[in-house]
Order: sequence, then structure tokens, then C-alpha cells
Amino acid sequence: MLAAGRNFIGGRWVASGSKRTFASLNPATGKPIGHFQLSTEHDVDLAVDAAEKAYGAWSSTPAPKRAMALLKAAGILRSEKERMARLVTVEMGKVLKEARGDVQEAIDTFEYFAGEGRRLLGCTTPSELKDKFAMTVRRPVGVFGLITPWNFPVAIPAWKVAPALVCGNAIILKPASDTPLCATEFVRVLERAGVPPGVVNMVTGPADPVGSKIVRDKRIRGLSFTGSRETGEWILRNAGIKKMGMELGGKNGIIVMNDADLGLALDGVIWGAFGTTGQRCTAASRVILHEKIAAKFTAMLVERTKKLKLGNGLLAGTDVGPLINKAAVEKTKRYVDIGIAEGARLLCGGKAPVGAGSFFQPTVFGDAASDMRICQEEIFGPVVSLITVGNFDEAIGVMNGIEYGLSSSVYTKDVNLAFRAIERIEAGITYINASTIGAEVHLPFGGVKGTGIGTREAGIEGINEFSETKTVYIDYSGKLQKAQID
Ligand code: UN1
Repeated sequence: MLAAGRNFIGGRWVASGSKRTFASLNPATGKPIGHFQLSTEHDVDLAVDAAEKAYGAWSSTPAPKRAMALLKAAGILRSEKERMARLVTVEMGKVLKEARGDVQEAIDTFEYFAGEGRRLLGCTTPSELKDKFAMTVRRPVGVFGLITPWNFPVAIPAWKVAPALVCGNAIILKPASDTPLCATEFVRVLERAGVPPGVVNMVTGPADPVGSKIVRDKRIRGLSFTGSRETGEWILRNAGIKKMGMELGGKNGIIVMNDADLGLALDGVIWGAFGTTGQRCTAASRVILHEKIAAKFTAMLVERTKKLKLGNGLLAGTDVGPLINKAAVEKTKRYVDIGIAEGARLLCGGKAPVGAGSFFQPTVFGDAASDMRICQEEIFGPVVSLITVGNFDEAIGVMNGIEYGLSSSVYTKDVNLAFRAIERIEAGITYINASTIGAEVHLPFGGVKGTGIGTREAGIEGINEFSETKTVYIDYSGKLQKAQID
């Protein structure tokens, strides 16, 4: 049966004023799984009205009480993990094992931020004056806009919603148009968990006008966005003054040194490059090989890549699921053509099998150079490029020679090199002897350079994105005291 999705505004499931809908397709079959509201700017306005109305009571509810709703949401998600995971596979395409991981990441996030309800720590520090007390407290931001991508259709909304709620904000969620059903089911969980009406609102529809209205609306005080760099740059130019969090992708590399355990590195490259069909911000799309092991490792990688089974993520035995849609297949194809034209050597894959579904073969390019477009631009598909270097310094130069700075990895047994890499790699995340993907929810997630604007999601730093710090001075001297003067 096809789902009939609605917006969620002020605690009610409502149709858009447009009276129009759009379809969400199963990327493995190309068939529709439901229809969702093609919303208008007016729908966003109504959601902001509802959020403003709910904000007062929610922001003054004690944080430990707000946190109870998160704990309840975690419980509901846990009991429905399998159903939700299947939905993720059907709507987004990732293989079922990974879809379970997506839902688990949301459960972990809700549990973690529920605990935050009894922390939300500020700090105390001595005053320079006598009989004066100084501290910081956290305050909510207000109405927060959350614009989320399709690649982690449950986990990433959870990364944003859980801290936003525990900090006392009211939110408008605009999910990616490729995964509105996952978002709808996610919001239902929050509704069932007892989040009061108007605190969580969801409006579905395209970037223009729904996303752009959220970005420009002056009543929306905070904005959290995960998606492409182009969209991120557009948002920065158009949002006006808002508190902002951004994660804008990566071009993540794995360095394999000559002393590395090659079997271990191979597992890491396969997982990093082809897990989620390469559609992670953290995907490994560059492998930087020390010349002494380059030929051997390349042969091992090509052999293993050829064995990966492409197919519907619901079927046991599938290693790599489809891309999100036909446009993504076209984009990946274009990059394969670009790589060939640039002189990289196509070692395997490179084709989209004919037939229904948005599939693309796992693809390896050898003889790549760091300045090629396939080594600079985010493809967001199952394409990995191999770059050979002569030594560690060169490897670090290649690793850092990109505009992004999200995740990175080094395979080596030399502890000195490992620590040097941690110091020198320009990225928000560095793994040693592990792949570029697999961030845990209690550690900060985000990047440097073109990947972001300095904010981190998840972990204790996730709270910073969704709260304001207020500095408080309490003078109990009974007289006028002047800082810097008395
Ligand atoms: C993303 O692709 O935007 O570390 C998020 C990982 C996952 C999260 C990825 N836990 O790959």
C-alpha cells in the first residue's frame, strides 16, 4: 500500500495548501512507495507560528523532563528497529544491515542526549572582584530550522532533533525529498513519545520554496544543515543573522603506509569506499598508497571489488545497494567519464547496469593524481581513486590538498607516524588503523575547511550547536564595583 504523507504542524497531520504531492521512489525498483506534501511558503509560515506558540512552555520545562521524551523516543525506536530499518532500505536503498545501523545510531543519540537533560553544563569561575559570583548557563535559541539529507534518513534527523529538543528549542524539520517516509515515521515516534504539539513540526517539499523559506525566515533563529557545499554556500549568503551549524561533505582519504597490515587496510578501504554505496559524507573516495605496496594493494583491491554483489538491499547476500536516484547514477557516470578523460586508469566497474533501479558498479581508478577532479570533488557514489606517493610527507600533502576536511584515516604500525598524522591532517576526524566511516554518537562529528563552519554535531559539542551561552554575574557586595578599575 502506498503511504499518504502529510505535514506535521502544531501537533496535527495536515495537507499542504498547495493540494499537490510528490512521490518517493524505492531506488532499487524505481517504484513509488508513497506520496508527500509539495508544500508552500505558507505551510512553513504555519509551522513557524505553531513553533513560536509552543516554544514558551517547552523552553521553560525543566531539561530533565524534556529529556524524558527523548528517552521514550529511544525506547519506541528500539522496539520498532526492524520495521524502521526495512523502511530505510526500501526508501533510501542502503543494505539492511546498514539500515539497522542507521536506526541504532538514532537510538544511541536519543539515549545520549536524554542523559544530557541532567547535565547541560555551564561553568563557574572566580570573579576578579570580592563578593561577586560568575557563571555561565545554557539557554535555548528559539525556533530552529533543521534541513536534513537522505543518506542517513533516521540518524541525521536524530543528531539534530535530540540536542535541539533537550536544549529547549522548538523545531521545523524539512527532510530531504528522497526520504520523506522515513522522516514521517521518525516524527511519529516523537509524537508518540509525548513531545508537546508545536514543539516538533515537519514540512515536506523541495529546497525551493520550502528550504529557502526556512533559511530566510527571520523568526527562525537557528539553522542546522547537512548537505552539499553548494547549498551550504547558498544558505550562508541568504540566511541573514542566525545561529548556524553546517556539515557540507568531504573528499576523505585513507593513507596506506608501507608497513601497514594490508589485509586490514583492504577491509577498511572496501568498507569506506563502497559501504552505503559511497553515499556517506565520510566515504573514502581517495586511497593514498605508499609506492612500496601500491601495486600489491591495487591488485588486492580490484580483486575484492569485483566480487562485491550489487543488488536490492533487502536481499541477503547483497553487498552494495542502489544509489539514491537516477540523477545520482548520471552524476556518477559523468565523473567516470571525467576520470577517464583526465587520464586515470579505470581498473574495474564504471558502468550502470541496465534495468530498473538506480544501480552503479563499484568502481576503482588507478594512476590518479591529486589535482584531478575525481580526486577533488565529492562524487557521492561508489568510486574510489588510488594515488601513489613516495613517502609519508607526500601522503600528508595529498591528504590535505583538497578543499574539504571531514574524515581521514591512516594505516600504519608505526606509532610515531600515527601521532604525526593526527597532528598534521586537516580534518575533523582522523582514524588510525580503521576506515573513514563509523563515527560514534558521543564524540563530536564535523569538519574543517570547506566541510563546515566550525560547528560539531553529536557528543557534548552537539549541545553547543543548539544552545546559547549566557554569562551571569551576581554581585553580593551591596556596592558598585567596577571591573578592570577597582
Ligand atoms: C554522514 O554521512 O553524513 O561515520 C554521516 C559515519 C556515520 C555517519 C555518517 N556514523 O559514517
